[in-house]
Amino acid sequence: RCHLPIITHPTLACGMAAVWQQVLAVDDFEEDPRAQGTRGHRRSVSRGSYQLQAQMNRAGVYDERPPGSLVPTSVAEASRAMAGDTTLSENYAFAGMHHIFDQHVDSAVPRLQFANDDKHLLACCSLDGTLSIMTLSPPPASVKVILKGHGGPVTDFAWSLSNDVIVSTSLDGTLRIWNTEDGRCIREVRDPESSELLCCTFQPMNNNLTVVGNSKHHLHVVNISTGKKVKGGSSKLTGRVLSLSFDAPGRILWAGDDRGSIFSFLFDMATGKLTKAKRLVVSEGSSICSISARSWISREARDPSLLVNACLNKLLLYRVVDNEGTLQLKRSFPIQHGSQHVHSIFCPLMSFRQGACVVTGSEDTCVYFFDVERNTKAIVNKLQGHGGPVLDVSFNCDESLLASADSTGMVIIWRREQK
Ligand SMILES: *[C@@H]1O[C@H](CO)[C@@H](O)[C@H](O)[C@H]1NC(C)=O
Ligand SMILES: *[C@@H]1O[C@H](CO)[C@@H](O)[C@H](O)[C@H]1NC(C)=O
Repeated sequence: RCHLPIITHPTLACGMAAVWQQVLAVDDFEEDPRAQGTRGHRRSVSRGSYQLQAQMNRAGVYDERPPGSLVPTSVAEASRAMAGDTTLSENYAFAGMHHIFDQHVDSAVPRLQFANDDKHLLACCSLDGTLSIMTLSPPPASVKVILKGHGGPVTDFAWSLSNDVIVSTSLDGTLRIWNTEDGRCIREVRDPESSELLCCTFQPMNNNLTVVGNSKHHLHVVNISTGKKVKGGSSKLTGRVLSLSFDAPGRILWAGDDRGSIFSFLFDMATGKLTKAKRLVVSEGSSICSISARSWISREARDPSLLVNACLNKLLLYRVVDNEGTLQLKRSFPIQHGSQHVHSIFCPLMSFRQGACVVTGSEDTCVYFFDVERNTKAIVNKLQGHGGPVLDVSFNCDESLLASADSTGMVIIWRREQK
């Protein structure tokens, strides 16, 4: 058990190898009772059937077209032919752990994220008051720089589009902007209400603007060139602001609070002003820990959607039904989630096969993959290896690596099986 060559961490390798487990294609196991409880993973026939569409999505290419106009092209047909009849579970089979980072062990790592269009660069923030930027290439994987300066737990962060800066929020009441090359703190912006800052995100079309949510129920648009709040860019929610997500063109912002509400806002690109549009009560009193917006589900289903974790022991998928951000529940998937700030993501690449995949953390220490297009047996894969609730997950841009972080401060990089 201690000889898995893929594990490169010197001290944790044996312990982790003992618990690394993948449950691939759970429906296959269900059909073959003898396979129940089998350790390790099955051989897979993943054939790389994805096309890099993430950038097109970021640029809002698909949002310029009316809904339903996305028809399969000859290119799509060709990729589908290449994909053959491999299932989504086979496509999301993992070969094991690539690396384990433990520089934050003993403090939870609430967020982690790969950089934009760089498959070997990622960052995470920690309740120990620091952030770290890690690189996986050239090997061996290493911590490139630790961002030190916050005077309290770091709750959230975001990469700018060009990866040159990271913005972070902390319970110390400051927003900080960091140079990712040398780790220098370029700017510190104090919350005007001196309240704890809980979440932040960049305006996708104008990285001079960020949105920050605080514990006094407010969100503010901040101009990071000046460090000032944008006039008309503030609003009040019903509770502590825990989660934020823009749609790809940056026109709609959703914000979730700890009283169970998601608000949508219209964002005025010219002025940075916010207009409150809609409110959805997901579940009175439940924390909305994570919101991710996506303007398409798969090549076949251009279906603007929102993925939400709301401490309800399930992952929720909403359909965005109008251009004011109104939400309608589409599906939910069982996970263990009662109180921790568990996050989830859409897989970054557009699927050319049947189905579309989302990934979520869970309090049962596992990472779950669900096919959002499948009505029954939606679970596609499950990764075991963490020693505490999994709080966040991130795929790199070509989906060759998945990173996951947990409440014990462990960060695991998983390598996808690729042919
Ligand atoms: C940000 O502001 C600077 C000057 O303040 C400007 O040169 C740059 O184009 C702006 N960036 C964006 C994305 O608007
Ligand atoms: C942000 O500040 C810069 C520098 O003063 C300014 O040029 C820019 O217009 C501001 N952006 C917004 C949206 O207020």
